[in-house]
Amino acid sequence: MDNQSLIREIREKVDIVDIIGERIPLEKKGKNYWAVCPFHDDTSPSLSISREKQIYTCFSCHATGTVYTFLMDYENMTFPEVINYLGERIGIETKSFKMKKKDSKYDKYYEIYDFCVKYYQNNLSTEVGVEARNYLQERGITEEIIKEFQIGLSLNSSDDLTKLLTLKKYDLTDLNTIGISNYGHDIYSNRIMFPLHDPSGKVVGFSGRIYGHDKSSKYVNTKETPIFTKGECLYHYHIAKEEARISKKVIIMEGFMDVIRASTIGVKNTIALMGTALTNEQLRLIKRLSNHIILCLDGDQPGKNAAYKIGELFLKENIEVKVITLPNNDDPDSFILKEGKDSFLSYIENAVNYNDYKIKVLGENINFNSAEETSNYINRVIEEISTIDDSIRTEIILKKLAKDFNIEYNTVEKKFLNLRQNSQKQAPQQELKKVSISQKDKYRKAIEQVIYFMLTNDWVISEVSKERLLISDEDVRILVKEIIYYYQKYGSITIADFMTYLSDKKELLVSLNSIINEAYMDQVNKETLYLYFKVIKEDTIKRQIKVLERKLKEELDPKKQAIIGNEIRALRIGDNING
Ligand code: CTP
Ligand code: MN
Repeated sequence: MDNQSLIREIREKVDIVDIIGERIPLEKKGKNYWAVCPFHDDTSPSLSISREKQIYTCFSCHATGTVYTFLMDYENMTFPEVINYLGERIGIETKSFKMKKKDSKYDKYYEIYDFCVKYYQNNLSTEVGVEARNYLQERGITEEIIKEFQIGLSLNSSDDLTKLLTLKKYDLTDLNTIGISNYGHDIYSNRIMFPLHDPSGKVVGFSGRIYGHDKSSKYVNTKETPIFTKGECLYHYHIAKEEARISKKVIIMEGFMDVIRASTIGVKNTIALMGTALTNEQLRLIKRLSNHIILCLDGDQPGKNAAYKIGELFLKENIEVKVITLPNNDDPDSFILKEGKDSFLSYIENAVNYNDYKIKVLGENINFNSAEETSNYINRVIEEISTIDDSIRTEIILKKLAKDFNIEYNTVEKKFLNLRQNSQKQAPQQELKKVSISQKDKYRKAIEQVIYFMLTNDWVISEVSKERLLISDEDVRILVKEIIYYYQKYGSITIADFMTYLSDKKELLVSLNSIINEAYMDQVNKETLYLYFKVIKEDTIKRQIKVLERKLKEELDPKKQAIIGNEIRALRIGDNING
């Protein structure tokens, strides 16, 4: 059975209402089921699930998809994982399911990296690795951890690895490209080697640490290569991915020694930024793991600054952030070594909400003897809490503020309510923006409605192919082509299956989702369908006229001007006759 047929069969045998209903409460209203949307900060049910169409849509955040995308997003599963999970559930063999390998041109690179991992591991375990092993032992890195994290050692040699790889017939150019060699020399020499993995768990780079008496830079990381981008790398992500699914939260640390140490006490839902910066790409990757983030950066000033900055970024994404503040000179690694497991677990347990953390940080270094600094501080705090959407919490903070600074509660509350009103005035504006994005003109709506009819009434597909409509917008033009292609190939079409079929074509999927979100009509008769065709044709002619008019303005030759003028007139007449 080919992939598409298997995907269709599973989708037909599984009911999206069951799958979602097992995870979040549903309520039946009319034809559809409704739920509080798990994909945005929702309070009243905005997610509608259609049993008939086997899709869900959120009218607020516009999340749209099938049983497949729901499980991928809600459970953080990959597509093959979902296929296996559902296949098992309904007793369908899914072994024949194969993901297209996208990056097969890089397979060679992954192969080299796998070899290097084994090579470095072997070095560490032999005679030449004694000194490095002692160093690791002194740091409390046991044999077990060395194995688990595939820690290795590069030799004190300038070309041992490069020679070995070229003997194995690997190309020197490839070794340069992927950051293993440089003109016949090894990049890493005499360093403890930590493999870096991509989100799927493949080794794509190394970080090499000095040990012993070496005075050169502490870590050397793989350069940017076709398979490794430092700004996208998150240490331990491929493991945290599974762990976060179980614990429903992710702990973010700075260094990979922190992550390794936490793992020794059984805390494995951790990732390391490999520094204190968080890139957009990293943020996107972390968002896929969980809606609950705990920042556990170093206790020093750079760590605190980073927590303040990064917390804000997550908050903007509507992700719940908590912060752990370690003692000043500790990172998670040293803290766990000194204070032990229970102490660290209680730090996790007592992580403070980012908003509270921010208020605390705002108060640091304020001279509370100065009336000006104090009132600035109070105003800043009220500003911060005016954005918190939890009236009990805001009241507690306001009461404490009034008490701490001996101000009338009314005064504080009044200021708060003023700011709250302003921020709420801003909120609907955001809503408006969303609406205006989807303000599509009459022609766009006509073609979108026709596409929706194609997906809900097979007969419309052949009408559209017969009609040979000229569609100006590229995305919908390709959608129409794809629907016709899919129908010809599989003999029937449903919205859910077509969505899954488009999953590799992200841009088309965005257009399709936007169509599904518009709540178009399901049913149509021939006569009405032809009214939609007419609107689309008028649009085509209008656009052709516009192009010609522009040409006419630029044309200097009177003869050619006359020709263009005639063309325009002909189109206008055709337009009138049609209309
Ligand atoms: N880092 C780096 N290059 C450096 C220093 C740090 O890439 N020269 C990255 C590493 O990924 C490191 C992280 O920043 O894990 C945090 O740095 P640091 O706290 O100095 O490293 P630790 O993990 O604490 O390592 P160690 O305990 O071995 O010093
Ligand atoms: Mn550190």
